[in-house]
Parts: sequence; C-alpha cells; structure tokens
Amino acid sequence: MKSYKIALIPGDGIGTAVTEAAWEVLARAARGAGFGLDGTSFPWSCDFYEKTGAMMPADGIETLRGFDAILLGAVGWPKRVPDSVSLHGLLLPIRKAFVPYANIRPHRLLPGVEGPLRAGSFDILCIRENTEGEYAGAGGRVHNGTADEVAVETSIFTRKGVERILRFGFEQARKRRGKLASVTKSNAQKYSMVFWDEITARLAADYPDIEVANYHIDAMAARMVMAPESLDVVVASNLFGDILTDLGAAIQGGLGFAASANINPERNVPSMFEPVHGSAPDIAHLGIANPIAAIWSGAMMLEHLGEAGAAKAVMTAIEAATARRIGTEPGRHKTQDITAAVLSALG
Ligand code: IPM
Ligand code: MN
Repeated sequence: MKSYKIALIPGDGIGTAVTEAAWEVLARAARGAGFGLDGTSFPWSCDFYEKTGAMMPADGIETLRGFDAILLGAVGWPKRVPDSVSLHGLLLPIRKAFVPYANIRPHRLLPGVEGPLRAGSFDILCIRENTEGEYAGAGGRVHNGTADEVAVETSIFTRKGVERILRFGFEQARKRRGKLASVTKSNAQKYSMVFWDEITARLAADYPDIEVANYHIDAMAARMVMAPESLDVVVASNLFGDILTDLGAAIQGGLGFAASANINPERNVPSMFEPVHGSAPDIAHLGIANPIAAIWSGAMMLEHLGEAGAAKAVMTAIEAATARRIGTEPGRHKTQDITAAVLSALG
C-alpha cells in the first residue's frame, strides 16, 4: 500500500485541537481511498521553547526534510514568548528553508455560511508570494535606544522570485476561470512594484488565454468587499498577500474557514499546510475552535500528494457538515462535534 510520511506540528493554542481533528479526518479519508498516512508528531511550540530555549531543535529543518508533507496547527503564545521570537524560530524558518514560494489561500463561501457581505457566491484563489518581498528579513537598527535610533527593513524583489510566483498564478488561472489579478502599489512604490508590473505584462504574452488585470492593493481591498465575484486568481507580494488573505478570510465567514498551502512546486522538499487563523489564545481552552480551516488545509495536502479523490471526499464531507449549519457560526458547536459531523459525512 502506498503511504505518505507526514510531519505534524500542532504548535500552540488551538493549533493542537484543530490538528488532531484534521488528522482524524485525513486518516479516515486515507483508509477509504486505500493509501496510508504515517504521521510523526513534533512538540515544537512555545512550551518547547520554555523548556529548551528554542522553538525547535537545531536540526529541526533537517528532520522535516525527510517527510512528504508538513501539517501545522498554529504558532504563537505572545503572553509567554514574543511573536517575533516564536514565529522566527519555527514557522518562518520552515517557509524559508523549503522555499514554498506559493502560499495558496482559497476564499469562498461554504454551503450554509452566509458571510458578512451577504453577497452571494464568490470563489477567489489568493496566491501570496511566500519567500521574499516585505518578509525578506533584510534590515537592521542603529543608535538603539537613543533619540537618533533608526530602523530599516528593506523589501527584496528578485526577478526569479517575482517571475515564478506570477507564472504559478497564470497556471492556476488556466485551471480555473482564466482570470488573473496582479496586485501591486506601483503608483507609489516606483522600483519594486513597477518591476512586478513589468514582469506581469511580459509573462502575459505567454498566456494569451488568460485575462489579466492590474490592481493597486488599496483598490483590491475595496474590490474584495464590493465585488468579490469579479475575482478569480489574485497574486500578490508577501505582505500584501498576508493582508488580503485575512480580508479573504473575513468575507468567507471568518478565520475558522481560511485554509492554506505553502507549496514548493518543484516537489523535492516537503510542502507545508496550515490554517490561516493562528493560535487564538483567547479561546484556546474552550473546545470551540473551528477545525474546518485545518481540515480544508489537510484536503489541500492530499491534493498536493496526488490523492485528488480523497481530497475531494474530504471537501465534500466538510460541505455536507456546513450545509447542515454545523460549524458555521462561531462558538455554537464544539470542535469535536464539528469533527464528528465531517467524519460521519465521510462515511
Ligand atoms: C499568516 C500569519 C503569519 C504571516 C504570521 C503569524 C507571521 O499572519 O500566515 O498569514 O504573516 O505570514
Ligand atoms: Mn496573516
């Protein structure tokens, strides 16, 4: 029997509960489809940091390299460990190490979810550049603590980085409704964002079948609220994509529905799958975290592994649960009840 090695990093807060839920659903889907999922769980988290002084062991990245995929819950517990430490010690190094340059985040309304816009249907695939741009980590501080203190953080845009994310976006648009929206701020940022626009225009010539539109980030934020149905694939830089995908989560009914995949399309290293929501310390011990974002991220993992049938079965089961309004309103159902509904729909 074919089997995949999966690294589980439940992490902090609600990350543990939603990862457990997702794993249960994925294991059932794998049994149904006749392949194996061999999971190894790593306790890397803020707890781990307090015990060992690091978010993960020094050879953590090398350990992960041997897996087919990584399923991550959430990282961060800011009351105990500053976010700048926890995220730079675990989540962000993984995103850098395996060059998962496409961060894919689907935004659509599941059946039974109305969303705040009451807008009818939309189906947006946000593709966030995931390795450079505003998250490049290039910068520094001088004259620390004095009146003359200066902080610099430089965005890095490389031809290679911008081309590959846009090409990925064009390819996705080809598999969907044939529309690509490229998001910049080239009216104000005249180097990096004009560079991005130029590359979009040049690549568009290779994809004559794709309808390309350029938007500034501010206008795109408004469009996602006013006319989300007009959008198909949306490609943006790391920080712009980060912000737009929280907006995307909001219009799809909340962060409990926002799934994501950090994909390295070259496939020689593990890609990572994680819900967008974070550790949610405020509800972490209440048993009411919505596991749907994590389960959906798991479905994206199955799809990436080549198990499209099982991925589809998981999505259909999620949709069957939400169509019965299970998991569609924050706090109304327990994590375990939502999980049970998805499991029973899976059969
Ligand atoms: C996300 C998160 C992360 C990001 C944080 C936790 C560093 O907001 O995955 O969207 O900014 O990428
Ligand atoms: Mn974010």
